[in-house]
Amino acid sequence: MAFDQDAINEQFPILSREIDGAPLVYLDSGNTSQKPRRVIDAMSGFMENTYAPINRSSYRLAGEATEAYEQGRIAIARLVNANSPDEVVFTKNATESMNLIAMAWGRANLDKGDVVVLTEMEHHANIVPWMMLVQERGIQIRWVPLTADGQLDLTDIDTILDGAKVFSFTAMSNVLGTITPITLLCNKAHAAGALAVVDACQFVPHNVTDVQSWNADLVAFSSHKMCGPSGIGMLWGRMEILDAMPPFLGGGNMIDTVTFDGFTTAPVPAKFEAGTPPIVEAVGLAAAVEFLESVGMANIRQHEMDLSRYTLDTLNERFGDDITIYGPANVEQRGGVFSFAFRDLHPHDVSQVLDERNVCVRAGHHCAKPLMKTLGVNATTRASVYLYNTTDDIDALADALDSATDIFGF
Ligand code: ALA
Repeated sequence: MAFDQDAINEQFPILSREIDGAPLVYLDSGNTSQKPRRVIDAMSGFMENTYAPINRSSYRLAGEATEAYEQGRIAIARLVNANSPDEVVFTKNATESMNLIAMAWGRANLDKGDVVVLTEMEHHANIVPWMMLVQERGIQIRWVPLTADGQLDLTDIDTILDGAKVFSFTAMSNVLGTITPITLLCNKAHAAGALAVVDACQFVPHNVTDVQSWNADLVAFSSHKMCGPSGIGMLWGRMEILDAMPPFLGGGNMIDTVTFDGFTTAPVPAKFEAGTPPIVEAVGLAAAVEFLESVGMANIRQHEMDLSRYTLDTLNERFGDDITIYGPANVEQRGGVFSFAFRDLHPHDVSQVLDERNVCVRAGHHCAKPLMKTLGVNATTRASVYLYNTTDDIDALADALDSATDIFGF
C-alpha cells in the first residue's frame, strides 16, 4: 500500500490548527500522539448510539456495547500477532501494565535476594515498580550498561542475567530512540531461566510487532501513543503466564464468585480488569488500529526511517558541533525520537523558544532519570516524530533552533 502523506494528514483535524496565525508543528509524539478523525468519530458515535455497561446487563444495548469493547481487544491481538484476544488485558496505561506485572507476577514469584535485570535506558515505569519490590521484598536489581552510541552493551549479558528471575527491558528507548534486539534479549532471558518482559510503548506504534516471534512473556504498551485515546493501556501475556498470575486489583468483573469466606477469580483477561473498564476508549482504540493497518505498519516504519535520516542530516549539517544528538546514528537501529543538547542552552529555554514558533517538543528528564545520569546531563530537548510528520516539520524545527541562536545572542 502506498504511503499517501496528504491523505494521512487530512485525517488529523488538529494539524490544521494555527496558533497566533501560524501552523502547529507537533514533534512530541513520543510523549503522546495526535488523533485521526476516524478515532474521534468512533468514540463520539459510540457515545451517541451504543454506550451502555459491558459484561453486566442482558439487554441488547449492553450486548452491543460489550461487542464493541471486545473489538478493541481483537484489534490489538491482530496488531501484535497475539495467539488469542484473550491474551490481551486492558489497563489504564502502560505504566499500570508494568505495575500489574511487578505486583501480580512479582509478588507471587519474587523474594528476598531474587534478581531483576533492567537496562540503563529504561523509563521510570519499568524501574519504579521493581524498586517498590526492592523495598517490599528485598529483591535486587542489576543493570545492563550502554555503549557510547546509546545501545545496550551486551558484552557481559550472560553474567548479568546469571541467576536472574526477570529481565525487563525497553523495545525502543523513549530518550535515545534505540531499538533493542528484542528476540535476542528474550532468548537470553529464557536461557537464564528468567521471565522476559518488554516495555513496548515506543515500539508498537511505529513498527510491525510480533510478540510471538519475539518469544516474549509479557509486553506492555499504550493506546495514546498509537493514535488511540488516553486512558487505556495494554498488557499482552502468554496465556499460561497470565493464567498462573494472581489478580492485581480486586472488585467487580474480575471475580467468578464471592462468598463471606472469600472469592475466586474470573478467567483471563477479566481476572485483570476489575471495575468498569475504559469502554469508549477501547472503541477508539479499535478505530486507531484499523487506521494504522490501513496505512501499514511497515510503511510507517519506512517513513520514519526516511524522516530520521533527514532529521539527523539536517540538524548535524546546520548546527555541527553546536548540537549533540543522543542515540545511534544508524536509522536502522533507531526510531524517530531525537534527544539533543543545543549549545549550552537549558532544554527548557530551548523548548520555550521553539514554542514561540509553534514547534512542540518535550524538555526534561523524560521520566528516565537514571539514563540522564549515564548521559551526564540533567535534561535534554526531545523532538519525536510520527506518520504525520514531514521534512517541513524538521525544517521548521531547525529554523526555530536558529531563532534560539538570535534570542540568546550567539
Ligand atoms: N513516556 C512518555 C515520554 O517519553 C511519556 O514522553
